[in-house]
Amino acid sequence: MTFEDQLNKYAGMVNDELNKVFAKKECLQKSVYDAMEYSILAGGKRIRPVLTLAVCDMLGGDIEDALKFAVAIECIHTYSLIHDDLPCMDDDDLRRGRSTCHKKFDEATALLAGDGLLTFAFEYITDFFAYKNTDAKTVLRIVNEIAKSAGCAGMIGGQVVDLECEGRSNVDEKTLTYLHNRKTGALIRVSVFAGAVSAGASDEQLQSLLKFSDNIGLAFQIQDDILDCVGDAEILGKPIGSDEENRKTTYVTLLGLERAKEKAESLTLDSINALSMFGDAGKFLAETANYLMKRKS
Ligand code: IPE
Ligand code: IPE
Ligand code: MG
Ligand code: MG
Ligand code: MG
Repeated sequence: MTFEDQLNKYAGMVNDELNKVFAKKECLQKSVYDAMEYSILAGGKRIRPVLTLAVCDMLGGDIEDALKFAVAIECIHTYSLIHDDLPCMDDDDLRRGRSTCHKKFDEATALLAGDGLLTFAFEYITDFFAYKNTDAKTVLRIVNEIAKSAGCAGMIGGQVVDLECEGRSNVDEKTLTYLHNRKTGALIRVSVFAGAVSAGASDEQLQSLLKFSDNIGLAFQIQDDILDCVGDAEILGKPIGSDEENRKTTYVTLLGLERAKEKAESLTLDSINALSMFGDAGKFLAETANYLMKRKS
C-alpha cells in the first residue's frame, strides 16, 4: 500500500465514524448540534486520529478500540479550533475552507459547540468501554492522559501563554517552545500515546514513540507559523497573516523564515530517528513526519 493509500484509509475510518456520530438530531437544542457538526465535518487533515490508528496498527493492537480514542481526540482538537477562532482569541473568519463557527452561527453557539465537543469526547469513549471487556485500567490511563493533555497543563495552558505573549517584544525561544509544546504538541503527543498504550506498548516502545511525537508536534506548529506567513489561504483553508495581525511571536518572527524551516526539518529528522527500533514497521510514521513537514495545508 502506498503512503497516500494508507493515510486515506485511516482518515477514511475517522470520517466514516464522525459521519455516523454526528448524524442530524431533531431537538430544541438542535443549533448546538448543527454547529458541532458544521465544524467537525468541514474536513481537516485528521492527522491526530490518523496517528492514533497508525501507532496502534503498527503495534498490532485492536483498531476498533483505538478508533474511539482517535475520534475523541479529533473532537477535542475541533473544539480547540472553534474557540481559537473566537473574537476574544485569534478573531479569525475562515477555518477548514469555511466561515468560522462563530461567523456561521453566533459567538454563544460557537462557545457552546466547543464545550459540547469537549464533553462529548469523554461521553463517547466511556459509552463504548463501559460495555466492552478492554482492560479498564488501560482505558482509564488513556482517558486520564487525554484530559491532562487537553487541560491547563496541556493545550489550554499553551493557549493561555500564547494569548499572554501577544504584543510582547521580549518572548524568547524557550517561552515560545513551551507554549507550542502545549497548545499544539500536547494533543499530538496524546494521539500517539493513546495508540501505543491501547496496543499494549512496552515502556521502551512508548518512550521512543513519545520522542517521535514530541518532535513532530513542535515541527508541526513551526510549519503552521511558516504557513501563516507564506501559505496560500485558499489551500490552507484559513487566513494567512493572522499571527502578524495579533502581534504574536512565532518561530518566523524569532528566527526568520529560513532558520524556522531548518528547525522544522531538523526536528522531523529527530522524529524519524526516534523510530529506529521499529525498523520497517515504522515506515508509515516516518513518512507521516515528512508529509507534515512538506504540507501546504
Ligand atoms: C491547526 O491544526 C491548529 C494547530 C494546532 C496548528 P491542523 O493543521 O491539524 O488543522 P486541521 O485539523 O487540519 O483543520
Ligand atoms: C492554535 O494555534 C493551536 C490550537 C490549540 C487551536 P494557532 O492559533 O496558530 O492555530 P491556527 O493557525 O489558528 O490553526
Ligand atoms: Mg491561536
Ligand atoms: Mg489561530
Ligand atoms: Mg497558526
